[in-house]
Amino acid sequence: MDKNNTEVSPQARILIVDDDVSNLAALGRLLRPHYDVFAAPNGERALQIATGTPQPDLILLDVMMPGMDGYEVLNCLRDTPVTCDIPVIFVSGLDTAEDEEKGFEVGAVDYIAKPYRPAIILARVRTQLELKRARDGLANQNTYLESEIVRRIQEIQLVQMELLQSEKLAAIGQLTAGIVHEINTPVAYVSFNLGSLEASLRDIFELLDAYEHLEGVSAPNGAELEKIRKLKQLKEIDFLRDDIGELLTQSRQGLARVAKIVSDLKSFSRTGGSDWLWTNLHNELDSTLNIVGNEIKYHCTVHKDYGEIPEVYCIPSQINQVLLNLLVNAAQAIPEKGDISIHTGQVEEEVFLAISDTGTGIPTDTLPRLFEPFFTTKPVGKGTGLGLSISYGIVQKHGGRIEVESALGKGTTFTVWLPIKPPGKTGENKLQTE
Ligand SMILES: Nc1ncnc2c1ncn2[C@@H]1O[C@H](COP(=O)(O)OP(=O)(O)O)[C@@H](O)[C@H]1O
Ligand SMILES: [Mg+2]
Repeated sequence: MDKNNTEVSPQARILIVDDDVSNLAALGRLLRPHYDVFAAPNGERALQIATGTPQPDLILLDVMMPGMDGYEVLNCLRDTPVTCDIPVIFVSGLDTAEDEEKGFEVGAVDYIAKPYRPAIILARVRTQLELKRARDGLANQNTYLESEIVRRIQEIQLVQMELLQSEKLAAIGQLTAGIVHEINTPVAYVSFNLGSLEASLRDIFELLDAYEHLEGVSAPNGAELEKIRKLKQLKEIDFLRDDIGELLTQSRQGLARVAKIVSDLKSFSRTGGSDWLWTNLHNELDSTLNIVGNEIKYHCTVHKDYGEIPEVYCIPSQINQVLLNLLVNAAQAIPEKGDISIHTGQVEEEVFLAISDTGTGIPTDTLPRLFEPFFTTKPVGKGTGLGLSISYGIVQKHGGRIEVESALGKGTTFTVWLPIKPPGKTGENKLQTE
C-alpha cells in the first residue's frame, strides 16, 4: 500500500500495547513509517501514556497480558474522562466469535485476530483514524457553533435593548411638540399672572402710602379721608382682593400641572429595564395619558372605563411604552374627530387593558403584518413601524399577549392581556410596594 494512501495525518499518534516484545516490534515496524508510534509493554504503562500529553489518537491493545489484561485496560480508559473517547482496536490471539463479541461489548471499535495481515492492520487503523478525525472535527464545530450561538444571542439582546430605548426616545421625540405646548401654556399664564400681581401690588402699596401719610396727620379732616376713598375706588381694591386670590390659585394649579408633566416624563423615560415591580396599572395608564394628552385631546374624547384590577407584577416603564404606542396609534388612526375608550378588568389570573378607537380600522390583509418590525402605513417622520413589534416583544416577555379586533371604517381594539404574576417570576418586593 502506498504511503500517501495510508496516512490520515502525519501527526496521528498510535499507542501499541503488548506484553510480547517481538509483537510490539513487528507492529512498530509496520506503523512507524506512517504514524507517530508509542509502545507500552503492559496495561499500567499504557494507561500512563494514554493520560499524558500528547495523547494517542488510537490504541492497539493486546487482550491477553499478565497483570492488567486488555479488558481491564479498556474499562479504565472508558472510566477516565480524558481517555474515554480514544478509540481502541483489540489485536488478539483469541480468535473465536465469542472473544470478538466480548471485545466489542466492552467498547472496542474493532477487533483484529492474530496472526494478522499487515495490509488489514493498516487499512483498519486508517479507517479508525479517519473516523476519529471526523468526530473531533464535528465536536470542535459543535463547540464553535454553541459559542457562536451564545454570542449571537447576546448581540441580539443588546440590539433589542438599544432598540427598545431608542424607540421609546423616538416616541417621546414625536410627542415633544405636544409636551412642550402642555408645559408652555401653564408657564405662560403663570408669568402673565405674576405681571398682574405686580401691578396690583403697586396699587395696593400706593393706597398704603396714602394711609401712612394720614397717620402723620393728627386729626384727619373730611377732605383727606375723601381723597383716600377716591383712591381706593380708583384702584378697585375690592376687585383686587378677589382677583389676587384667583390669580394665586390659578398659578398654583399651573405649576402643579408642569410638575406633574415633568414627573410623568421622568418616570416614562427612566431606563429601569429590569425593575420588576408590583404595579397599579391604572396609575400607569393615567400618567401615560398625561404624556400623550396633547396628541389626543384636541380631536379625541377619552373615555375611561376602569374595572377592578389587582396590582400586576411587571416592568412598569416597559408597560408604559406599550400603552403609549397603543394610545398614539389609536389617536393617529382617527382622521378628524373620534373617541378613544380604555377598558380594564380581570379574568381569572389575568388582567386586560383594552384600547379602542373609532378610527379608520385595519384592512384584513394588513392584519397579519401589524407586528412585523418596520411595517408601517404612515409617512416618514410619523411612523417607524416599530411600535407594535416592540410592544409585542415586551408583552410576550411578561408572559402575556396582544389581541386585535378591527372593523374597516369603524375602528380598532387592541387588548393587552397580562398575567398578574408571570410564570417563573417570584414576585418579591410585594411587601415593599404595599
Ligand atoms: N389603532 C390602529 N388603527 C389602525 N391602524 C393601526 C392601529 N394601530 C396600528 N395600526 C397599523 O399598524 C401599523 C404599525 O403600527 P406601529 O408598529 O405602531 O408602527 P407606526 O405607528 O410607526 O406605523 C401602523 O402603521 C398602522 O397601519
Ligand atoms: Mg405606532
